[in-house]
Amino acid sequence: MTTDVQERIAHATAILGEARRVVVLTGAGVSAESGVPTFRGERGLWRSYRPEELATPEAFRRDPALVWEWYQWRRGLIAECAPNPGHHALARLALQRDGVILVTQNVDGLHHRAAREEAGRLGTADPEPAFPLEVHGAIHRDRCSGCSRVTDATPGEEPGPPRCVSCASPLRPDVVWFGESLDPTVIGAAQQAALDADVCLVAGTSALVYPAAGLPELTLRAGGAVVEVNVGSTPVTDAATVSLHGPSGEILPLIVGG
Ligand code: OAD
Repeated sequence: MTTDVQERIAHATAILGEARRVVVLTGAGVSAESGVPTFRGERGLWRSYRPEELATPEAFRRDPALVWEWYQWRRGLIAECAPNPGHHALARLALQRDGVILVTQNVDGLHHRAAREEAGRLGTADPEPAFPLEVHGAIHRDRCSGCSRVTDATPGEEPGPPRCVSCASPLRPDVVWFGESLDPTVIGAAQQAALDADVCLVAGTSALVYPAAGLPELTLRAGGAVVEVNVGSTPVTDAATVSLHGPSGEILPLIVGG
């Protein structure tokens, strides 16, 4: 590790250590070391698949079986993955300190799994079911496309989506698709946390998909600091107070303590 990198890590650690309120924003890169594919980048899902054919309400209306099959494939893939040291470091941060709010764009549930595991290890209470704030939903739940009833994800390889037991409309994964609005309560809480935060720690996101991508900017405009962890550069990099280039599974445990 060069002196410059060590200094940046020390700077980020100090900023986070001194902060009273921390908001963390994560993206697909945080789960990359767990084996969950990211969306963009060389091996990202959007290189092989077209989002408009798989992740929009129009796609689901046009070909529900194709969309369902793709999500069942992703669910199977995620079921094989486990949280990595980055998830665990963030889980310890959230469990051990007051004033930490974790916001994720990820639908894989790995932050919650890590927090349950860490709570067991630390002997603390289990994380709230609503931890973290999942602004793009959760792949381990289904939601009725008609009456919006939410249930656990349907297992199995049946072709096409199952029907809702209440209203018989097709079930869909409980995730946000392109062209859909985010849950205003969830994104509203995330935006308020970003405005209130002394520091926004942003890890493993390309920071391209709004409104989530706007959270670091909210913290900066309110006078807070931004620490970025990413293997590459993003629209946040130049504005960040400290930018750390490298895998989040290695860097997050170094800067969040615990
Ligand atoms: P992306 O796939 O757009 O970006 C992943 C980011 O993680 C990139 O900036 C990579 O450089 C970085 N990265 C990759 N591996 C990393 C590692 N090991 N450590 C640190 N950084 C790493 O994923 P998101 O930003 O999460 O939305 O994408 C945002 C949204 O776009 C997703 O929630 C999804 C997608 O379309 C919906 O489906 C609505």
